[in-house]
Amino acid sequence: MQNSANQTPYERMGGAETFRTIVHVFYQGVAADPLLKAMYPEEDLGPAEERLRMFLEQYWGGPTTFSERRGHPRLRMRHMPFQISPEARDRWLHHMMAGVDAANLEPELDAAMRDYLQRAAYSLVNTEPAIPFGAPIPPTPPDA
Ligand code: HEM
Repeated sequence: MQNSANQTPYERMGGAETFRTIVHVFYQGVAADPLLKAMYPEEDLGPAEERLRMFLEQYWGGPTTFSERRGHPRLRMRHMPFQISPEARDRWLHHMMAGVDAANLEPELDAAMRDYLQRAAYSLVNTEPAIPFGAPIPPTPPDA
C-alpha cells in the first residue's frame, strides 16, 4: 500500500469503483431527465457512460484509456453538436453532484471534484459566450 503522498487523486478517491459509482448514478439521473435524455444521440446510454467514466478517470490520474480510444479530449469541440444552455448545464451538474454524493469522498477530494465539475460544466455552455475554464463563476440568480 502506497502512502497517500505518492498516490494519484484517482487512487485516493478509491479508484475504478468510485468513478463507476459517480458516473453510474449520474446516468441514472440523465435517463430520467427528459431535457438531458433527448440530447444523447444513442438510445443506449451505456457507451456514453463508459466514455465519461474513462475521461474522468484519466483526468484524475487513473488509466489513460480515454485518450487511447478517443484521442485528445477537446471537450468544447465535442460538445458543439449539442445545445448546452445554462439550464442543461444545471441539470447536468445536479445529476453529477448526486453521483459525487454517492461516492462519499473525503472532504478535500470531494471539494476538488465538485469544483472541477462545476468549472468544466460552465466552460461547456455554448448557447452564450463561454466562461473560460478557471474564471470566477458568477452567482446563480435565485430563480434559476
Ligand atoms: C454542461 C452540461 C453537459 C451536457 C449537457 C453534456 C452532454 C453530452 C452529450 C449529449 C454527449 C454525447 C454522449 C456520447 O455519445 O458520449 C457528451 C459526451 C461527453 N461529455 Fe458531456 N455534457 C456536459 C458536460 C460535460 C462535462 C462537464 C464533461 C467533463 C468534465 C463532459 C464530458 C464528456 C465526455 C468525455 C464525453 C464523451 C466524448 C467522446 O468521447 O466523444 N461533459 N456530453
